[in-house]
Amino acid sequence: MPGRRAIPRRYLMCPPAHFEVTYSINPWMDPAKPVDVPLALAQWEDLRDRYRSLGHRVDELEPLPGLPDMVFAANGTTVLDGRVLGARFAHPQRTAEAAAHLDWFRERGYAAVHEPVHINEGEGDFAVTASYLLAGRGFRSSPLSHAEAQEFFGRPVIGLDLVDPRYYHLDTALAVLDDEADEVMYYPEAFSPGSRAVLERLFPDALIATEPDAAAFGLNAVSDGLHVLLPQAAVGLFEPLRARGFEPVGMDLSELLKGGGSVKCCTSELRGE
Ligand code: ARG
Repeated sequence: MPGRRAIPRRYLMCPPAHFEVTYSINPWMDPAKPVDVPLALAQWEDLRDRYRSLGHRVDELEPLPGLPDMVFAANGTTVLDGRVLGARFAHPQRTAEAAAHLDWFRERGYAAVHEPVHINEGEGDFAVTASYLLAGRGFRSSPLSHAEAQEFFGRPVIGLDLVDPRYYHLDTALAVLDDEADEVMYYPEAFSPGSRAVLERLFPDALIATEPDAAAFGLNAVSDGLHVLLPQAAVGLFEPLRARGFEPVGMDLSELLKGGGSVKCCTSELRGE
């Protein structure tokens, strides 16, 4: 078992001040179910404060009225080597979020900011390991965005086909545990048979999640190399993570799950200045 160590991270998050579920663009969203905004905010603050207490830097993006899904900041960009690939959303309800993200980076002097041609939903569908940029497709991000990302970042992109609408973004079905190695956990049934074979080939030692843990959004996790923050309801993942030397940290983001997101969806990682 490798010696685990936490690497200080920089995250961008957006408070759920205007969170609500008034439309449904994934199977988790039911506009008939009321959302408790103060509770969503408290759960979100818990996550933000947890990152900070673990020594990570969290910046906040100003939430805009009329964009209830903006709390899912991971979808707004992919940032790697200080280069910023903007998002282009698949659904019109989220279109305006993309510009808010790009403005945030431009205002802070990021030089390499690319407004994408093809639809991609940021880190919802892009995951960074030591060797690859894993890229989901099937529900949101266009396969064409994979080539665009590869060209922009100069990292080999591995396209993965998502087949279960409940796991509509890559980050609902796969999490990177160690980004200095190629260590991931994933839920195989969310992927096509060919993509499963690719994952087995690239990550033979991956932690394999069961259906109940995937359905509890357990793969929607964020790792700093040692601590793995994940929904506390994904109880089956805690022991396997500990056995690998990680420290699982259970979070309660039940209100945000009503929008179809959890820990990772709320967290955009800014990699490399
Ligand atoms: N309601 C949002 C949507 O369907 C949730 C996005 C969750 N984000 C994520 N990174 N998976 O777009």
